[in-house]
Amino acid sequence: MDEKGTLYLPPPSSTIAGEVDALFYFIFYASLVLFAIVTMATVYFIVRYRRRGEKQLTSGVAHNTKLEILWTVVPTILVFIVFVWGFRTYLKMHVVPKDALEIKATGQKWFWTFDYPNGANSINDLVVPVGKPVKLLLSSQDVIHSFFVPDFRVKMDVLPNRYTLTWFEATETGEYEIFCTEYCGKGHSEMLGNVRVMSEVDYNDWLEKSAVDIPEGMSLEEAGAKLYVSKACVTCHSVDGVPGVAPSFKGRYGEQQRMADGGMVLLDENYLRESILNPQARVVEGYQPVMPTYQGVLKDRQIDALIAYIKSLQE
Ligand code: CUA
Repeated sequence: MDEKGTLYLPPPSSTIAGEVDALFYFIFYASLVLFAIVTMATVYFIVRYRRRGEKQLTSGVAHNTKLEILWTVVPTILVFIVFVWGFRTYLKMHVVPKDALEIKATGQKWFWTFDYPNGANSINDLVVPVGKPVKLLLSSQDVIHSFFVPDFRVKMDVLPNRYTLTWFEATETGEYEIFCTEYCGKGHSEMLGNVRVMSEVDYNDWLEKSAVDIPEGMSLEEAGAKLYVSKACVTCHSVDGVPGVAPSFKGRYGEQQRMADGGMVLLDENYLRESILNPQARVVEGYQPVMPTYQGVLKDRQIDALIAYIKSLQE
């Protein structure tokens, strides 16, 4: 499909998108026509029956049965069409096909984690096969987020302490943006991701490779540098020494550091590991305890790799 986007909507890239768009345009154009009729009639009456001198122009009519039936029946029919059409599309969007591939999606301040059936996971990078229904089981670790892929016309609230469901079937390979559409704090506008739609073969390839902790032939340091980006550390921690939401990684390893509780801590391997798995245990002075835990997200070897990378950032 190479349908173009319009002024209002990006190109439709899922099986449901066309239906959503059709309903949108029906409501849009019906509103436009009604708006034009009402506005033109208003202008006409203003001009036609404006006050001219003292002469009474209107006849004092207070009732017209035909007219009242017309303006009751026509809008009722319109509302009925929109209701039935909307409800049918709504059902389609909410009843997940039986053969759907299930992926667990977790929102937290301020990134998305995706867990695949074979144990692989990815951050801010949802990889799916083309032409296959994908069911997303959504939940949040902290506040309310909202998962939105405009090209698919898919949007679902993501709540702590309960699951929500949505599904889609991508019709074309390519990359599509994911937005968080529920204001969730300071990093809300940076809570971005991509859906990468691949052929079935590429998807299976990717899955297999991603289940591996550290790719073969890659040093821990290199793997750590990749994880730093792919696991979204980069959102808050710089590597050039400039502090952001969180301390920079550069030049910190091996230093003594004052903590929020006033104590001094040596920034060694154990501190880094603890801060990845249990970030609120000891927070550096001057920073908010906003880091999410990576417990269950990173495997041991990946934590080793990140620590190796941080250690390599000392001048
Ligand atoms: Cu998450 Cu806004």
